[in-house]
Amino acid sequence: MRALALRAPLGVQVCAASCVTRCSTGCAGSTGCRWRWRSASKMETRLFEKEEHAALYQKCRILIPPEIKNLVLSYLEEKKGKPFMLAVDVGCGTGQSTRVLAPHFQKVVGVDISEAQIKEAKKVVGPTNISYCVCPAEELPFEDGSVDLVLSSAAVHYFNIDKFITEVNRVLKPCGCMAFLTYTQYLEVHAKDCSDQLTAIYNEVEKSLVPFHSIKMRHVISGYKEIFDAIPFPDKKRVGDIVCSMQLSIADLLGFIESFGMFQVFLKKDPEAAKELLRKTEHRWLEAMKVSSKSAMVEICLQYHCVLACKPD
Ligand SMILES: C[S@@+](CC[C@H](N)C(=O)[O-])C[C@H]1O[C@@H](n2cnc3c(N)ncnc32)[C@H](O)[C@@H]1O
Repeated sequence: MRALALRAPLGVQVCAASCVTRCSTGCAGSTGCRWRWRSASKMETRLFEKEEHAALYQKCRILIPPEIKNLVLSYLEEKKGKPFMLAVDVGCGTGQSTRVLAPHFQKVVGVDISEAQIKEAKKVVGPTNISYCVCPAEELPFEDGSVDLVLSSAAVHYFNIDKFITEVNRVLKPCGCMAFLTYTQYLEVHAKDCSDQLTAIYNEVEKSLVPFHSIKMRHVISGYKEIFDAIPFPDKKRVGDIVCSMQLSIADLLGFIESFGMFQVFLKKDPEAAKELLRKTEHRWLEAMKVSSKSAMVEICLQYHCVLACKPD
């Protein structure tokens, strides 16, 4: 395996002090829900707030691969056993992982600090046992000891980690589990006989995005080591180097790159250069594949790390 340049989405925006968010699970602050109207000025960093970015997320983000989903569900079954009642997907974005969990739980709630992301998530017609809530990861709107699984995909590194883990500890049932996933900087693009060339072009894209990385990326680079170390439960493990492959069109892969927070930072700083990077990359990929349409399919290989932990009984 080759180590490639960094790849998870980034971007930091400071929220306007007048914003307010509230629980939208329908609890309206009743029956033990701790969430109340809250001034966003108290929140820390605000990410992924733009509506266009959220729409791109909905269109282009990838689902949790089956291997990762099965790893998480087997762990929960081993540690807590069935029934699986309530799962919470924290930093759910537009709900890709939330919807993957839905068939396995009685109820799944996706929470995210970004109103734009939750608005997009709600537009998707999906299973009826899903609901969404705008709220910070550090103040989850659930009763003590009420949640079977807290999952977070490509998001924990954006949170206040200590506060988040304390909150997860509070809401989990005894023997309930946390599963924090991230994909890493490792990515290969395969097609016909030109995989090396396609991957090299991707590496160049990555390299040009390096100046737009956030400091939070250190967690991704370390495979969530600091996050793992911060979990106080003795029963925990970190599974790395899980390489998952998936089929995407060139158009989808370009959209996936465009959805990265670091690309969005680039776009904001220099819109013409950012758009030109995408145009040039498309042209080079199509040329390497000797095709003319962006609907041409490639296989990408992504490397995941997964932190799993079980709350003591
Ligand atoms: C890279 S996206 C991942 C989205 C989705 N889980 C996925 O796998 O595509 C990170 C998400 O975390 C959310 N986020 C960042 N900080 C947060 C916080 N403190 N509380 C809740 N959500 C947060 C962002 O709004 C964004 O939707």
